[in-house]
Amino acid sequence: MMRSWVLRGTHGIRGAIRVPGDKSISHRSLLLGALAEGSTEVRGFLRSEDCLATLAALRALGVEITESADGRIVIRGQGPEGLHEPEVALQAGNSGTTLRLLAGLLAARPFFSILTGDSSLRCRPMRRVVDPLTAMGATLLGRAGGQYPPLAIQGRQLSGIAWTSPVASAQVKSAILLAGIQATGETSVTEPAPSRDHTERMLAAFGVAVRRQGSTVSVIGPARLRASSVAVPGDLSSAAFFLAAAAADPGGEVRILDVGVNPTRAGALEVLEAMGATITQARARTEASEPLADLSVHGARLRGTRIGAELTARLIDEIPALAVAGALAEGETVISGAAELRVKEVDRLSALAGELSKLGAQVAEERDGLRIAGGRRLRGAVVSSRGDHRMAMALAVAALFADGETRVQDVACVETSFPGFAQLLVEVAPECAIRELEDAD
Ligand code: S3P
Repeated sequence: MMRSWVLRGTHGIRGAIRVPGDKSISHRSLLLGALAEGSTEVRGFLRSEDCLATLAALRALGVEITESADGRIVIRGQGPEGLHEPEVALQAGNSGTTLRLLAGLLAARPFFSILTGDSSLRCRPMRRVVDPLTAMGATLLGRAGGQYPPLAIQGRQLSGIAWTSPVASAQVKSAILLAGIQATGETSVTEPAPSRDHTERMLAAFGVAVRRQGSTVSVIGPARLRASSVAVPGDLSSAAFFLAAAAADPGGEVRILDVGVNPTRAGALEVLEAMGATITQARARTEASEPLADLSVHGARLRGTRIGAELTARLIDEIPALAVAGALAEGETVISGAAELRVKEVDRLSALAGELSKLGAQVAEERDGLRIAGGRRLRGAVVSSRGDHRMAMALAVAALFADGETRVQDVACVETSFPGFAQLLVEVAPECAIRELEDAD
């Protein structure tokens, strides 16, 4: 049964909230904890479907992981040799990070494994990891010549490579680095623009020497990882929905505590400021190698802006929220260099243009971006997430600014990254009266 949200347009978005832990960092804490020797304790772990898929896969590989009542996770790593051939196919669900990063990790283990996922993930491109891992010496097979999952992996002793990736992708970079730390010799990855660097930061915290030069990262294998403790900050990509909502509401004011502000992720803050919102950071600090802060946003009448290729890697997951801000701004917002959005959980360029138009926004889909004529009054409508969590949340934010009632269909997917989103939305916008219904209701 499909689930929907029904909510009303409202004014006065305000409050102080905390968002759940960072998804990228949560995945990596499990994977590096599993490769390390000793107990790794993780605080602030994101218990969402995506991260739980990584956790279950590691358990199927023989890793002991315990969860305590206060939400702490402990991974009892026994080094890479502690992983064993799984009897079952490993299920990544909707999670590209789970599938691609595990592919890198497993390419270097001397056994057979199968990685698969849901119908969305089974249509996402995998040659971007299959090709470099094959060049390192592993055997990987997948549908359509290795392009789509399921992937079948026969791992073996790998050799380091120097790989130039045609896409700026932290999943590709991380898959190669996870293979590289288990390979013989130096492995380096060069990207067209630097993608999020959580893997590099966490590897260093686990005692691995990571060299960085411009957009090239290298490690020397085989490297042993020392167990560490990880403090996961709030997810800026989750915070982005509340930042965009408050930014677009003149008089709106929201504070979000303990959010990760890693510069390779923080492009959306610059964009919302360029559009006219005021964003300030307080209590800036670093925990477990990741910067975090309390973010405050004051809303304004926003102005349209340009988001070009030089920015997209640093805000790739925030484009749905920023497209909504663009639709609410005066003037034109042009997003370009964002063709990667076509291979996310859904084709987000097509989904944003199609669904925001149903609310009365004027959004034209271009080859690698969107052209949004802002300032149109939005009106409530029936829209669909198309099964994409960030689409669902972006559409809920748009609905706050629409006249009347909006129904966002197919919202169960929000559990992949942001359990509790609707409850937090009520906290900052009580009059939206969001409620969850079965689609038949
Ligand atoms: C992620 C990297 C990004 C991002 C995804 C999480 C990660 O994907 O969109 O939500 O944790 O490494 P790409 O690496 O495909 O750009």
